[in-house]
Amino acid sequence: MLRIFYKWMWYNYFMKIIDGKALAAKIQAKLKKEVAEMSVQPGLVAIMVGNDPASQIYVRGKERDADKIGIRSNIVRLPEDTTEEELLKVISRYNQDPLWHGIIVQLPLPAHINEENVLMKILPEKDVDGFHPLNMGLLWAGKAVMVPSTPAGIMAMFKDYKVTLKGKKAVVVGRSNIVGKPIAQLMMMENATVTIAHSQTQNLSDLTRQADILVVAIGSDRFIKADDVKPGAVVIDVGMNRGDGGKLHGDVDFENVKEVAGLITPVPGGVGPMTRTMLMKQTVEAAKRSLKNVE
Ligand code: GUN
Repeated sequence: MLRIFYKWMWYNYFMKIIDGKALAAKIQAKLKKEVAEMSVQPGLVAIMVGNDPASQIYVRGKERDADKIGIRSNIVRLPEDTTEEELLKVISRYNQDPLWHGIIVQLPLPAHINEENVLMKILPEKDVDGFHPLNMGLLWAGKAVMVPSTPAGIMAMFKDYKVTLKGKKAVVVGRSNIVGKPIAQLMMMENATVTIAHSQTQNLSDLTRQADILVVAIGSDRFIKADDVKPGAVVIDVGMNRGDGGKLHGDVDFENVKEVAGLITPVPGGVGPMTRTMLMKQTVEAAKRSLKNVE
């Protein structure tokens, strides 16, 4: 028992492990205070099409977080056979309603719906996911307004754990619009030298072994091993993979990599809680901006 306690002390007090849950709770408490002082209650609507089990869990988590902070939330659940036109109409209704400051459409969408058309329909100022091409373009132009939540959460963790990016060599494994590309740009904006690797990258380990900061977002169970990591590196694991036994694992082989890394996020309890919290932060900010536009 004592040995387990000492181990826990070691990891927590020597800051080997980034506690995303604790940081998320700290930011949520701050947001709650801010919301209580606002003249308008921020509102967030999540639109879901179909019954994707992972999406159901995500959306319920977002609703719980919104409740805790004092954000009004609504989940619109549409059947799997909803047409694109019907979905666009629902978005349009929330675009026009000033009570809702943030609109998200949970991804993935059923195959018969064009994702790009849907994301483009959300008003950029209500696009709290930051997936609208205008917001993506602004981010790449270095004028970030709405930033996707997962990368925003990672940047918040860097700030809280005093990870400096200037001059560092960062490698991102994964090139998605939701995580890989935006986190690369955000780190570049902080003056890191960034390489984006992906499924077709040759000699991936040679690359990851050079990284001072390694961000992995590929959705492949414990893909990154201890040998792939530079001793002392900061390792951020965005993966959430449920194995045969139902246990949740990241894209990083946490048990072994934690012995090599200087700082590492666990799964669960790392990036996940931060993602939802940053969505709430973005909603609060969207509500504040809407007040400014009215004044
Ligand atoms: N599906 C998986 N991650 C996300 C996310 O961050 N936002 C939305 N809307 N859908 C997702």
